[in-house]
Amino acid sequence: MIHIRNVTKRYGERTVLDGVNLHLHAGEFAFLRGRSGSGKSTLLKLLYREIDDFTGDIAIDGQPVGSMPKYELRRKIGVIFQSFELLERKTVLENVELAGEVLGRSEKDTRAQALHLLKRTGLSGKERLFPAQLSGGEQQRVAIARALLVRPAILLADEPTGNLDKETAAEMFHLLRELQREYGMTMLVVTHADRFVEAVPARTLHMEQGKIYEIGNG
Ligand SMILES: Nc1ncnc2c1ncn2[C@@H]1O[C@H](COP(=O)(O)OP(=O)(O)OP(=O)(O)O)[C@@H](O)[C@H]1O
Ligand SMILES: [Mg+2]
Repeated sequence: MIHIRNVTKRYGERTVLDGVNLHLHAGEFAFLRGRSGSGKSTLLKLLYREIDDFTGDIAIDGQPVGSMPKYELRRKIGVIFQSFELLERKTVLENVELAGEVLGRSEKDTRAQALHLLKRTGLSGKERLFPAQLSGGEQQRVAIARALLVRPAILLADEPTGNLDKETAAEMFHLLRELQREYGMTMLVVTHADRFVEAVPARTLHMEQGKIYEIGNG
């Protein structure tokens, strides 16, 4: 599903990824850990092509990411960030529906999907509120629902619980894991929250000195 082969990424003189290899098969869930500055976000950015100057090969379902149009990549890959990145002037429902417009789905389909996902993430009744009227955990669930609207085959999460208290973070990991199974997504989650990594058994990768090491399998 995701094949990363011998990928090197430099920022100027600094080599952040140094011949990284990683293979995630379809429907696989993995945590990615590593110290601040070790290159975790950079790796995710290469996958969804926010950055596209690197050497080596990254392929999704056998297709090099560089040869995939960005809109196709956006359909395949959903992304969730630590900072949620919701639009403050749009309601919860509008935030979740955004991707539907981009993909040219009918309004009716998009609405039905968005309502379903909001229910699934425990946000029924909050559809008309604005992000500022929600707790951090609720905002993150909106971000999850938004990412899932396109039914992505892959979900990348960059410290999705970094701004949440530990109980809420634990709930979020369980929700992500549940959705990952339900939707059969391939999922890579960057996290510092060591204890939850132990609580949610899964393949765990560690990034250090520009390389990725396997450190456990749940
Ligand atoms: N656009 C950029 N230009 C120059 N250097 C950058 C750029 N983006 C990241 N870096 C550097 O690359 C290194 C890796 O950054 P990256 O954001 O991938 O780390 P990270 O593992 O995600 O860290 P954190 O856990 O703090 O989020 C850092 O030293 C950072 O300063
Ligand atoms: Mg980062």
